[in-house]
Amino acid sequence: MRTGTWSAPRRVDIIGEHTDYSNGFALPFALAQRTVVHARLRDDGRVTATSDGYGEVEFPVTTAPGEVTGWGAHVAGVAWALARSGAAPTGADLRIRSAVPHGAGLSSSHSLECAVALALTGLHDRDLDRARLVRIVQHAENGYVGAPTGVMDQMASLYGEADRAVLVDARHLTAEPVPCEFASAGLALLVVDTRSPHRHADGEYGARRGTCADASRALGVADLRDVTDLDGALARLDDPVAVRRVRHVVRENARVLAAVELLRAGRLREIGPLLTASHASLRDDYEVTVAELDTAVEAALAAGALGARMIGGGFGGSVIALVEQADRASVGAAVADAFRRRGFAEPAFHVARPSRGAGRDR
Ligand code: GLA
Repeated sequence: MRTGTWSAPRRVDIIGEHTDYSNGFALPFALAQRTVVHARLRDDGRVTATSDGYGEVEFPVTTAPGEVTGWGAHVAGVAWALARSGAAPTGADLRIRSAVPHGAGLSSSHSLECAVALALTGLHDRDLDRARLVRIVQHAENGYVGAPTGVMDQMASLYGEADRAVLVDARHLTAEPVPCEFASAGLALLVVDTRSPHRHADGEYGARRGTCADASRALGVADLRDVTDLDGALARLDDPVAVRRVRHVVRENARVLAAVELLRAGRLREIGPLLTASHASLRDDYEVTVAELDTAVEAALAAGALGARMIGGGFGGSVIALVEQADRASVGAAVADAFRRRGFAEPAFHVARPSRGAGRDR
């Protein structure tokens, strides 16, 4: 094949934050907003990539980490990770189109990486197994871009389905579809982009990842999900920071499984309190929220949201609020008003709907 178009969606997480890199559970879904890559094969071993708003980069297919920086690192990193996994990527001209702005915490970088990985292999008619693509994208992020992220974002992007959330089991790399039809239940999942750009390559994310890995070693479990007696485990940790981090992860894993049960039983409204508890845990125990995220959650709840929480890595980005459809406008207005009063940037709103995952479009 000489040309083709591939696309991959952004994601939101219903619940299960900062659980993926300790091999736990998460429940994201793919959004309708996608990154689209139109690709043309080149046989001179070079890659050019042009992105709306970000300009153009050009490099040889084979580069080493550090050689391509900025947004191009997400493209070069995928080529690098594909090559390292033995799936020789091709030279190509890539034209990239993105639907929503970068930095909203909806994982624009993973949707770009998934679409590029599909294009660079699809041009060769070499469709890789999705679980392998999950690891390749993680390798690109961790080893080339330098962000120590987990597997949730690319699993949502690669395994998403319309009207289904994706139960991610990061240990076994399995993705199970879970029914998730907010609209037909009279509900809406409102996304509030707080317009405070998130940043998790800056050490905070990695520090938490390290604390969790150290804690599971100290507790003698393979992963924190294997902790069965939480109070007993916490009593064995000396460091109060580790106590808070572990408490978040263990309880968050349990919240994911509880939310899945409720969704399967069609009891959608009842996931609201789990969302709110997740936010409190991310604020107090995991300490990854900022004033904009807390304000959006508080204002949404005060205006009648059934539950609300930050999503993604934290330190900025977006919040989701589960609302009755009839309350959508009033909850949005209450959040916008709270932001005005605090002097924050004007937030942006949209309704999230579980949509199809990454694939070939043409
Ligand atoms: C980022 C990472 C994910 C996940 C979330 C936090 O989005 O890319 O792997 O760790 O943060 O849950």
